Amino acid sequence: SMAEKAGFKHFMLKEIFEQPEAILNTVKGRIIPDSGQVDLPEIGLDDETIRGIERIALVACGTSWHAALVAKYWIEKWVGVPVEVDIASEFRYRTLLLNDRVLTISISQSGETADTLAGIRLASQLGSRILTICNVVGSTMTREADGVIYTHAGPEIGVASTKAFTSQLAALFLLTLYLGKVRETIEPETLRELGHALVGIAGVIEEELPTIRSQIQELIERYYDSRDFLFVGRGLNFPIALEGALKLKEISYIHAEGYASGELKHGPIALIDKDMPVMALVPRDGVYQKSISNVEEIKARQGRLVLIGTRGDEHLPTLTDDVLYLPRVHDELNPLLYTIPAQLLAYEIANRRGCDVDQPRNLAKSVTVE
Ligand code: G6P
Repeated sequence: SMAEKAGFKHFMLKEIFEQPEAILNTVKGRIIPDSGQVDLPEIGLDDETIRGIERIALVACGTSWHAALVAKYWIEKWVGVPVEVDIASEFRYRTLLLNDRVLTISISQSGETADTLAGIRLASQLGSRILTICNVVGSTMTREADGVIYTHAGPEIGVASTKAFTSQLAALFLLTLYLGKVRETIEPETLRELGHALVGIAGVIEEELPTIRSQIQELIERYYDSRDFLFVGRGLNFPIALEGALKLKEISYIHAEGYASGELKHGPIALIDKDMPVMALVPRDGVYQKSISNVEEIKARQGRLVLIGTRGDEHLPTLTDDVLYLPRVHDELNPLLYTIPAQLLAYEIANRRGCDVDQPRNLAKSVTVE
């Protein structure tokens, strides 16, 4: 009913709008922004164990795997520990070089995904410590792990994950700060700055959501009947491009692919013509110039560009009419913010096409069989 959807047409839309609260609930009590103190008592690892970690293995499926990909950038940059990221169905069937100095982290909204669960069981048998990032209290994964970081996103009903994803990102950023604090790889001043930025991102998303939605609604009239869609991004926003493509294909059935911008010339650029829409995530971050030169290659081949960039960037409207601006936030938090227009693009297109947004064909909320 409309009542259980709080007046929203679909659970997915309701859940997109619940993201500021979900992020805040996930960071609440775990971070004191002014002092920069981060605390994760439920992590189940003492400081000595944390200092002894030599490698981290991240295991997940679907949208949760995209959160893992973002975390690799964060942890390697701020903690200096090598991170490998696996799709759980690959992890469980390849040769695993794990031991007690490797921390295995599963990321799962449900805590019940069969492949992810099998992955942590194997890792545990090999002596690895298991931490799980999970949204469902008491789920199988949380019971089997040595430690848990709960995302407090609340129940997610829409099959396509939204608030669980941004809450996973918040939890993984918290974990990065915590590991950096214990291992002393992040200066106290930087810890304060990053913690402050994390807490602040919820408010930024809250403030921007209505504007992003109305801009997307206006834009989709020109894109909703597309046959294909590309999403591109660099660095921290590469996994967000993957997530945008996944959302769109899941709920609108438009063929979509996500690519690292720099990889375009190794194949997908062959697809670009006047009928190919490309959403490019181009914040003014450390890889901005590189991203723009990739976008220019798309423009030169008449691709239909939708650019998501930093408010005030006057170069973007010279490349396309379809520019959506987001405020400047700390570069490290861009993935949380840039996810929002990608989710809303998928939602509005699927809704415009009359698709069953909350229950897309052939998909299940939780995949408990292999
Ligand atoms: C299914 C869902 C996805 C989800 C994936 C992993 O495919 O439809 O939305 O990302 O499972 O689920 P998990 O609960 O492990 O995060």
